[in-house]
Amino acid sequence: MNVLVIGQNGREHALAETYAKSKRVKKVIITPGNGLTDLNNKKIKNYPEVSMTNFDGIVNVCEKESIDLVDVAQDDSIAAGYVNRLQALGIKAFGPTQKASQLEWDKAWSRSFMQKYDLPIPEYRSFSDIKSAKEYVQKLGDRLLFIKAYGLAFGKGVIRTETKEQAYDAIDQMKSFGKAGETFLIEEGLIGEEFSLFAICDGKDYVIAKSAQDHKTAFDNDLGPNTGGMGSVAPALVATNQIIKEVEDTILKPLMSGMEKEGRPYKGILYLGAMVTSRGVKIIEFNCRWGDPEAEVILSSIEIDYYDLVDAVINQRLSKIKISFDEKTRISVAGCANGYPSDYTKVKGKEILGLETAMEKPGITIFGSGIKRVGKKFSANGGRLFYVIGEGKDVIEARKKTYEAMSLISIEDDNLHYRTDIGWRDVERLQKK
Ligand code: AMP
Ligand code: GLY
Repeated sequence: MNVLVIGQNGREHALAETYAKSKRVKKVIITPGNGLTDLNNKKIKNYPEVSMTNFDGIVNVCEKESIDLVDVAQDDSIAAGYVNRLQALGIKAFGPTQKASQLEWDKAWSRSFMQKYDLPIPEYRSFSDIKSAKEYVQKLGDRLLFIKAYGLAFGKGVIRTETKEQAYDAIDQMKSFGKAGETFLIEEGLIGEEFSLFAICDGKDYVIAKSAQDHKTAFDNDLGPNTGGMGSVAPALVATNQIIKEVEDTILKPLMSGMEKEGRPYKGILYLGAMVTSRGVKIIEFNCRWGDPEAEVILSSIEIDYYDLVDAVINQRLSKIKISFDEKTRISVAGCANGYPSDYTKVKGKEILGLETAMEKPGITIFGSGIKRVGKKFSANGGRLFYVIGEGKDVIEARKKTYEAMSLISIEDDNLHYRTDIGWRDVERLQKK
């Protein structure tokens, strides 16, 4: 079988490696891929000239490379309906349909779906008129709120506010997101510990993959601006068996049957972002794909041929196969260009040193993201450049290995930035025991 993965970041690199491990898979094409995706694995081939938004280009590659399955791994491609469009051309595609993925690309529809099926959510209201939104805030007074553009806004469409004035300001900013901000939500701010949980769904049944915890802010101690994710740990210890049971009963089961009732059965990877609050688990959001950098710490724990797993999802046979996950803990740390997520233009093109030495350490994997390779020379080509993943029997061992490997890497003129505290909550939990 030949597989094509759409994307260029760490998640897609992890997926390409996971497919390549399958005995049934002969080659994995990645459009466009990055400077590390095709470095160490002869089965993986990049198509740097075919970008993620070049649908016709992707279809051409499918023909040229005799592709049997396309994994639409990435949010924009899913929202653009690539799964439907590929299937309409007779090409087998993995991922939710455009209608099913409205759960991710339309926060207003998503919240109204959750409300309709009585899923646990924060109090919220949806607005498209600035004046009534401000009147609502006026009534609420000074309190923690989240103002959210309904559409995809490059991860920037969510603003946290603590006072009325900040909330008015955030409401005014919604315009700057263009169409994505025409409708926006005002939500009660939840207090608690966040985690993610991933479920593999075939439209009727689901299997829970591991939980994880992302670290979104740029600097240690959860300070600084929000980013696409600076690192993650899987499993997340806050997601105990009891919490997972609660998630199944109050979220996953009603979601699967609700989506079926709405005529949008959910097939693909479901990513739940949730918070454990004093009033139980509440939903922050759903995404319709693996997380990045969560895929990097979960995919290698799946103890079944991934091609077989995806095939079972597509053919709605999940209940017929046995799926297990290993017991290891994995940590990923994003190696970033100094200045990320603000201005990191001056780092573009700078050489990244020590990657290959770090890769050779036992228990270490490195996935590429914004990285370029010419010959054996690696250079910065984005904000998040690569992820170092370390595995161990627990978070303390995984973290030690990850940071030992990270310390071998540098960028010309001291331009490497990474957080040094990924996994801190679980490290503290274990140390207290
Ligand atoms: P999102 O773009 O929806 O993932 O939101 C970004 C981040 O904002 C989430 O990861 C949470 O940390 C936070 N967040 C969003 N909505 C809420 C909420 N209602 N209460 C508390 N935190 C939230
Ligand atoms: N880890 C955040 C995301 O994938 O959206």
